[in-house]
Amino acid sequence: MEKPFRRRDLLGIRDLTPAEIIGILDTAENFREINAREIKKVPALRGKTIINLFFENSTRTRTSFELAAKRLSADAVNISVSTSSLTKGETLIDTALNLDAMAPDAIVVRHSSAGVPHQLAKVSKAAIINAGDGANEHPTQALLDAMTIREHKRKIKGLEVAILGDIVHSRVARSNIHLLTKLGANVRVAGPGTLVPSDFQYLVEKGLTVRSKIEDAIEGADVVMILRIQRERQDSAYFPTLGEYSIHYGLTNERLNLAKEDAIVLHPGPMNRGIEIASEVADSSRSLILDQVKYGVSVRMAVLYLATGGSMANG
Ligand code: CP
Repeated sequence: MEKPFRRRDLLGIRDLTPAEIIGILDTAENFREINAREIKKVPALRGKTIINLFFENSTRTRTSFELAAKRLSADAVNISVSTSSLTKGETLIDTALNLDAMAPDAIVVRHSSAGVPHQLAKVSKAAIINAGDGANEHPTQALLDAMTIREHKRKIKGLEVAILGDIVHSRVARSNIHLLTKLGANVRVAGPGTLVPSDFQYLVEKGLTVRSKIEDAIEGADVVMILRIQRERQDSAYFPTLGEYSIHYGLTNERLNLAKEDAIVLHPGPMNRGIEIASEVADSSRSLILDQVKYGVSVRMAVLYLATGGSMANG
């Protein structure tokens, strides 16, 4: 049985109901086998046009949105901001209106400022999909993380999930906290005091715990999600040196051994090896970092399909 996805845009996990999150994940499950075929193409979005508008660098998100569009037979166009008329002084909104005038069905946008996708959604006829806005949200990352967790733990409700590191600058952390608490996981966050926001207190009643030591957050965890140190978003010193960060907050085997024996490790990428994560952990059998990337294509296929009028799979 299928259910209509009643939203045009995907701006954040914060806006979604648990049923919508599960509907997207189930739809992604249905698309998953296409990515394992020899001919990885179906006609689901034939005749649709998807524009990728990335104002920030990306390897995983941009490539997987493009692959997702192409595997569903949509026409995918990548706008290179450095060669666009934005460099001649055109405003972001004017750029969006001009792209919208060419009648795309969806615009996937990444920007260093929080709220840009929300601004574009107000003026655009195309569906706007948030591919990461500043430190606000990265909804498709949280969805692919959830797909990875479901695959390996067969559930999300009741799991103990530790999210560690640079929480304050992390759109991945925000989207994951919303998603995991909506689906009934117990989420603990920990990192240097300067990198854990005080405004998270409002999430405490929804199942979030703030721990001061990362060892306390890892203890007994089913899932350990380690975040990248976002040097590009740090306009002042949040910790003395990267070396000290690694010593006090880096995920090593010794720290990971505090988690449950069958705990899994996630990292959204790109990794700073030897800083927030030791290579011995990143390359271990507990690490599902490349599975996350693999499921990213299925999740983005589902999001493009639903945002352009498709119906959600149900179970
Ligand atoms: N996880 C993630 O958003 O990676 P990219 O910056 O490479 O897209």
